[in-house]
Amino acid sequence: MIIAPKAVIERKISSAPGGESHEMGFDREGIAGTSSGLASVLETARKVSKSDSSVLITGESGTGKELIARAIHKNSSRCNGPMVVINCGAIPSELLESELFGHEKGAFTGAHRSRIGRFEIADQGTIFLDEIGDMSPDLQVKLLRAIQERQFERVGGTATIEVDIRVISATNKDLAAAIEQDKFREDLYYRLNVIPIHILPLRERKEDILVLAEYFQERLTKRGRGYQVKTFSEDAIQALLNYDWPGNIRELENLIERVSVLVEDPLIEVHDLPDYFISGSSRNTLVSVSSVFNNRTGFNEAVDQFQRSLILHALNETRWVKARAAELLKMNRTTLVEKIKKMDIEQESQVPIF
Ligand SMILES: Nc1ncnc2c1ncn2[C@@H]1O[C@H](COP(=O)(O)OP(=O)(O)OP(=O)(O)O)[C@@H](O)[C@H]1O
Ligand SMILES: [Mg+2]
Repeated sequence: MIIAPKAVIERKISSAPGGESHEMGFDREGIAGTSSGLASVLETARKVSKSDSSVLITGESGTGKELIARAIHKNSSRCNGPMVVINCGAIPSELLESELFGHEKGAFTGAHRSRIGRFEIADQGTIFLDEIGDMSPDLQVKLLRAIQERQFERVGGTATIEVDIRVISATNKDLAAAIEQDKFREDLYYRLNVIPIHILPLRERKEDILVLAEYFQERLTKRGRGYQVKTFSEDAIQALLNYDWPGNIRELENLIERVSVLVEDPLIEVHDLPDYFISGSSRNTLVSVSSVFNNRTGFNEAVDQFQRSLILHALNETRWVKARAAELLKMNRTTLVEKIKKMDIEQESQVPIF
């Protein structure tokens, strides 16, 4: 059992992944977390799973885009059909067309026999077009037609093939910017983005961190092989909460596995975590508006914490030389000193957690 702040434990109650959750009629399929950001993603996923509309899932790498796509498929009327995943960024563009639509024998050098593509395999099911932002403009035109008309031809073929599929796509790129730069077709974007789902990065839904850490530990223990649920010390918990998780949930999942294997003691301490968990904390001193709303921090508290963050950041940047910190903040040195005193900021002060 992880030591978690009381508020986190209380909010955890309805978080159990797998099985029906409070989102009536929607099986979470191993999606853990209690943040309001995740709840609204699950609510949209629940609604969209009842339909056949195209869904575009956006979010940084490792935020759970594929997991959500799978949950939508599993909860849809297509659940007995296939869910076919294709990573558009991982396949060279000259091969991608044949991967998507198949090819006829002799269509190109090396095409010794005809082969069906992922669109045909996905018939009666869902096709998940991952990293859609990496698709070449030529292929985007063909994809648009296939999605619009639910029909296409194999490479080198003349027969038109019809399929019954639901399209879910995902990207960690900013497609609006790609459209501006003429790298992504606007018409395809609107076709794919009928229902947008944006998954927040983990640093903007910090209340999910401990819930996920516990979930991953328990999942490892269920696998057997000698994993045991361990406890995090208060300092280690603070470090997990302060860290900004550039690799998001995948990074947290890997970390939990690593400490589960490498730390033999039942208590995981802060020095058991990688060094950058401690040294990188100054990157977290500035807070985002969405994290304030996600964590339901009130206005006054958020403003206080923001002031505290700014002051701590400036002090850390200037090795606690107050005159220089005041310069950096463009404020009077005496005002800074007063604030430091009033806010009880000391050299080892914690950065406020959002
Ligand atoms: N809410 C969650 N609960 C449990 N596990 C999660 C959750 N979100 C993500 N994961 C796990 O984190 C890992 C990354 O998730 P996933 O592959 O779905 O992310 P992604 O957004 O598709 O990443 P990428 O952009 O790198 O492809 C997976 O192992 C997944 O099972
Ligand atoms: Mg993915």
